[in-house]
Amino acid sequence: MISVCVIGLGYVGLPILVNLSKKFKTTGYDINKQRIEDLKKGKDLFNEFKKKTLKKRKINFTNSIDLIKKSNLFIITVPTPINKKKQPDLNHLKDVCNKLSKIIKKNDIIIFESTVYPGLTNDFCIPLIEKNNNLKEGVDFYVGYSPERVNPGDNNHTLKNINKILAYPHNYLKKELIKVYSLISKKIIFSNNIRETETAKVIENIQRDVNIGLINEFYLVCKRLNLDFNNVINLASSKWNFIKFKPGLVGGHCLPVDPYYFSFISKKNNFNTKITLAGRTINNLMTTIVKKEITEKLKKIDPQKNKKILFCGLTYKKNVADLRNSLGLKIFKSLKKNNKKIRGYDPTLNNQISKKNNLVISFKEFKSFDIYILVTNHSIISRNLKKLNKNKTIINVLD
Ligand SMILES: NC(=O)c1ccc[n+]([C@@H]2O[C@H](COP(=O)([O-])OP(=O)(O)OC[C@H]3O[C@@H](n4cnc5c(N)ncnc54)[C@H](O)[C@@H]3O)[C@@H](O)[C@H]2O)c1
Repeated sequence: MISVCVIGLGYVGLPILVNLSKKFKTTGYDINKQRIEDLKKGKDLFNEFKKKTLKKRKINFTNSIDLIKKSNLFIITVPTPINKKKQPDLNHLKDVCNKLSKIIKKNDIIIFESTVYPGLTNDFCIPLIEKNNNLKEGVDFYVGYSPERVNPGDNNHTLKNINKILAYPHNYLKKELIKVYSLISKKIIFSNNIRETETAKVIENIQRDVNIGLINEFYLVCKRLNLDFNNVINLASSKWNFIKFKPGLVGGHCLPVDPYYFSFISKKNNFNTKITLAGRTINNLMTTIVKKEITEKLKKIDPQKNKKILFCGLTYKKNVADLRNSLGLKIFKSLKKNNKKIRGYDPTLNNQISKKNNLVISFKEFKSFDIYILVTNHSIISRNLKKLNKNKTIINVLD
């Protein structure tokens, strides 16, 4: 009988746990005590799950490693960020592997889902898990890798209706494992090769980052040349193989991080990547460009700095309540330094977070401003802007 434990209950881990709890005995483990306390009460700070759903499922939420010992399938979804030197920060994975090495039993299965560089599962994680016991991977316990492809804020590509790769180079419970994963995603693409799967995941994101970087560069050059960017793109898109990306602020946990993982391992193997990181410079530069655009517009509209200004959309992406690596948030903070009166508004965020950061919450207050800077265009913000009187000024960034 399969008993699942998901380790790391963030944006990726919680939805997997909730899906699997429909059929399996499930435990959710996280080192963040507050997160566990909240989840026990049915509270999801990321607003993805309603209290009713979390309460209905019989999930054991815990931050005690002793209480996960009885599970036999461990799914690891802890963060894999970069450090100040922009190198992979593997501390979360290291901590999990060290803990697992003390509780692992014969015939346990461990599937890593965190985004990593090629080879990390085999060369870094497995040796750590084998350290405090006499068990051997592939003989006594089994490791696989299934990268997460969920695209936050995208209702067409939800966890349930995307294809998910599962790399599991073993025969032990292979069919059962595929069945477990079929509960998570529509179609399982099976692979016998963990390294290839790790690589596939990381290059998917790099390709996107580089493409957005390129379109951001086109946008900037069009501005310099006094050309209407949208007209240019519409003309170019009339060719059958032109790929239409949109200029934008690239934030979050994946695109700004994954190119560094790939470059890191490439450098370790004596090749300095030439293009992988190309999107990074230009995509980060967009913070300065967008801030400059807003400041110039404000100088014209509000030279005396006496109008009420609301900065709309602080999270990194449309319809996503995630502030990590948000360039919008960065721009907001920077604008606020020169104009203390600017307020922020982001209805995707939990009221608790909004209150703590003195953000506007009610529609009554929302409609009391003179100028609205639209940065992250959440659907609720769009709807609310449409309800405003015609005399309001809206600055639509990167439009
Ligand atoms: N968020 C996304 O959209 C997305 C998409 C694809 C892939 N990924 C990848 O999935 C992984 C997880 O990302 P996320 O967005 O869910 O991160 P997250 O920060 O939302 O959640 C991670 C959770 O792990 C917990 N944690 C950290 N260290 C731990 C430890 N040692 N033991 C137990 N719990 C621990 C944290 O407290 C947190 O609750 C990352 O590798 C990320 O790159 C994320």
